[in-house]
Amino acid sequence: MRKAMFEAEVGDDVFEEDPTVKELEKKAAALLGKEDALFVSSGTMGNLIAVMNHCNIRGSEAYCGEESHVFLHEQGGAAQVAGVTLCMLPNNEDGTFDLKKLESAIRTDRIHEPISKLVLVENTISGRIVPQSWIEELTAVAKKHDLKMHLDGARLWNASVASKISAKDLVASFDSVTFCLSKGLGAPVGSVLCGSKSFIADARRRRKVLGGAMRQVGVIAAAGLVALEETVPQLLEDHRRALAIARAINQLNSKIFQVNMKTVQTNMIFVNLNTESGISAVTLMKRLHQVDDFDENDRTIVRCIALTEKLLRIVLHYDIDDSMVNAAICKLKYVIKQLDPQV
Ligand SMILES: Cc1ncc(COP(=O)(O)O)c(C=O)c1O
Repeated sequence: MRKAMFEAEVGDDVFEEDPTVKELEKKAAALLGKEDALFVSSGTMGNLIAVMNHCNIRGSEAYCGEESHVFLHEQGGAAQVAGVTLCMLPNNEDGTFDLKKLESAIRTDRIHEPISKLVLVENTISGRIVPQSWIEELTAVAKKHDLKMHLDGARLWNASVASKISAKDLVASFDSVTFCLSKGLGAPVGSVLCGSKSFIADARRRRKVLGGAMRQVGVIAAAGLVALEETVPQLLEDHRRALAIARAINQLNSKIFQVNMKTVQTNMIFVNLNTESGISAVTLMKRLHQVDDFDENDRTIVRCIALTEKLLRIVLHYDIDDSMVNAAICKLKYVIKQLDPQV
């Protein structure tokens, strides 16, 4: 990837003259079966531009799951920057939301209410793959009510390799899609927003007002091309490693620390904690981040995040190989045995 970055041919992307950026955009659009694509700095920017584009009338509203990244982790950019209200729907265990609830939330009173414009879906959502059958039902509802559909596919490629459904098929009914080249795909930065020709022409203008226009960025687009060509086929390895870690935790039969195996579908592991034990996810996280160089079971830092008091997240990515996974399993077992005297 570094070599590709070093050798990348560049030009001024503001004038659409960077050949490497153009190659990446063309490749992304072709892979997703969309007319065009735009290289953006982040998933957050791609999602925000999509909201701005689809909700281009003041007073617009978009619908999303209450666990969605757009709602929880993007500073409410839809409201803050785009002036769009987000209407949240409770997420089901499989990442979907109730379509009857969606239909009953759709506005009809044009004088008093916001204007219903857009549905936002995330796939994968917290590592889970959203069922295609539900996406088909959602598409029918969206069509019926004249709503556009945007996919936050930050981890679309994980969903694709795990479900063995091509990315093109996964996104076929969406008007626009964002996917990330960073994170699991290993590029240092960048996401791609895909959609129709006119959608992307508008997106290019909006990227500029957000300060996201870039110049000789072929150097980073080159990393994105390597990510798509070389990392995507390797994602199954991350999934296999995530399963190995989850199984190792559950093999301990701890009553305090458990993984719901149904949620381990791609590269994420969520450890549920029984907090009646007095141990919270923060306690576990801090302990996993601590090392004792003189104890061979305790030399590894297992980087993770306590999402809530009861939930700890571990994510696999490109740079974590089998020997690191073995070291992480060793540390996890050691720490869990320390914290749970019943194990
Ligand atoms: C589902 C999802 N969407 C969007 C984003 C935003 O991506 P970025 O960090 O590139 O802004 C993330 C980041 O982790 C994410 O997990």
